Amino acid sequence: MQTSTLKPVFRLSSFSKDILRTIAATSNVSDIKTDANLKSWKEIPGPPSLPLIGILHHFLPGGELQNFEIPGVVQRLFDKYGPLIKFEGMLRTRDIIVLGDPETSAYVLRSENWLPIRPGFFSLEHYRKEYKNGKGQNSRATGLITDHGEVWKDFRSTVNPVMLQPRNIKLYSSVLDEVAQDMIKRMKADRDEKNMIRNNFNVEMNLWALESIATVALGCRLNCLDHSLAEDSPAKQLIQCIHDFFIMADKLDFKPGLWRYISTPTYRKAMKLYERQENLTKYFVKKGVEQLKLNANQKSNNEKGVLEKLLEINEEYAYIMASDMLFAGVDTAANTMTATLYLLATHQDKQDKLREEILSKSIKRPYLKACIKEAMRMMPVVSGSIRTATKDYNLMGYKIPKGMDIVCSHREMSLMEKHYLRAQEYIPERWTAEKDDPLYYGNTNPLTFAPFGFGARSCIGRRIAELEIETFLTRVIENFKVEWFGPPPKLVQTSLIHIKGPFNFIFKDAK
Ligand code: HEM
Repeated sequence: MQTSTLKPVFRLSSFSKDILRTIAATSNVSDIKTDANLKSWKEIPGPPSLPLIGILHHFLPGGELQNFEIPGVVQRLFDKYGPLIKFEGMLRTRDIIVLGDPETSAYVLRSENWLPIRPGFFSLEHYRKEYKNGKGQNSRATGLITDHGEVWKDFRSTVNPVMLQPRNIKLYSSVLDEVAQDMIKRMKADRDEKNMIRNNFNVEMNLWALESIATVALGCRLNCLDHSLAEDSPAKQLIQCIHDFFIMADKLDFKPGLWRYISTPTYRKAMKLYERQENLTKYFVKKGVEQLKLNANQKSNNEKGVLEKLLEINEEYAYIMASDMLFAGVDTAANTMTATLYLLATHQDKQDKLREEILSKSIKRPYLKACIKEAMRMMPVVSGSIRTATKDYNLMGYKIPKGMDIVCSHREMSLMEKHYLRAQEYIPERWTAEKDDPLYYGNTNPLTFAPFGFGARSCIGRRIAELEIETFLTRVIENFKVEWFGPPPKLVQTSLIHIKGPFNFIFKDAK
């Protein structure tokens, strides 16, 4: 990788930096037409494949893909095979190319920035487009997560101006702060004599995330933080469903299985789970719409929230988008919040510095943003960006044919010392450092780190998630001195990287 030798020159100016990045990028990749001597993608290093079973045997005990659910396996594979790895598909799972090089990743992501296809969630796509169709329930659009091509583009360009407009998102500042303060009260009430939270911490963070995203998706409070909420309440059922969904989707979408040929028990279980989750979100969206109708005509256009605005533009899209917000915005925000709290609890100096910034009451809070960003670098909830190539590529001398899935492993790249100085350390200061500081984040390719993905297909909930997390983290640090004891929590990689616990947090009153 040329980045390190180019580093001193990078500092000349942002203009020359961009040019040099392009040169660095094109040394690993080039246009397919200019290079006739490419090797086949089959020659890319990776776990060797066998006839019929592909790479299945590597998942067995002793195999190099055993424990694939523990993050870290991919880094070991990069160490062994280099920054371009091939996983051959098996039992109709697809061939995948995994990239651990930022410049090559940037080249792919930027080249796919017109109508990008993000594969994955095949079983959900199957549920929404085929299974329901069999039941006569399919509509044309199924949502941003499962649609592609022109259908996706029409949906996305309709919802983008509403969902990404900072003015629309700012409307939620005070209600999200209300949710944060209610959550603080709940945490205070739920502490035991050791100042630990009695209830399952993971469920608690999910309840906060669901209550927060519901204010945006439905325009009303769900009251998930109410202590009288029953275990079988729709809110708790939905949280469980969303959590189970990511585990189930991983089983069906990325692991070998026969469901693509026959109706297996796991497949039937998944279809039931997806149906239950859909019915629960529909129940909440209906409730939200009814409440909005009750208060109709009482608000000026500037006061109208996301759901109201979407309903005026396209009712069908409004329903689908609200459901997908409840689905995509819960586990993601909850795990990011837990990761940030864990890293601040284990770095008391950083926590004190953050508390100082918060108590100063200054409107701009760069260190707050930096603490969250740095947590997402070290413990991201999504491990990388994935695209189905819409054209042939030359990547590092190999021909990657159109139609192949390419994964850019941001998690691993972000933890490599050659991209971030002291990469294994939690240093929020790297995101606020000046350009002449060796820690300065801009010394690496911006696409090394992409917690919300990239380009036209990037996370549509980004601004909402950032506001939710910043608001709640502010209240937590204002109210508690957060501590941690014992070893780090376990992480499990499914479609998301879940923090499994144990959650050894201590929440003492802040002085
Ligand atoms: C910290 C919290 C979150 C993280 C880390 C996160 C991360 C991501 C990532 C990595 C993607 C894929 C982007 C790509 O392929 O380039 C994505 C897509 C998406 N996210 Fe988020 N997300 C978060 C919160 C949310 C929230 C709160 C919502 C709800 C409003 C949401 C809704 C979506 C949707 C609908 C997509 C699909 C977008 C499309 O394909 O057009 N996410 N998210």
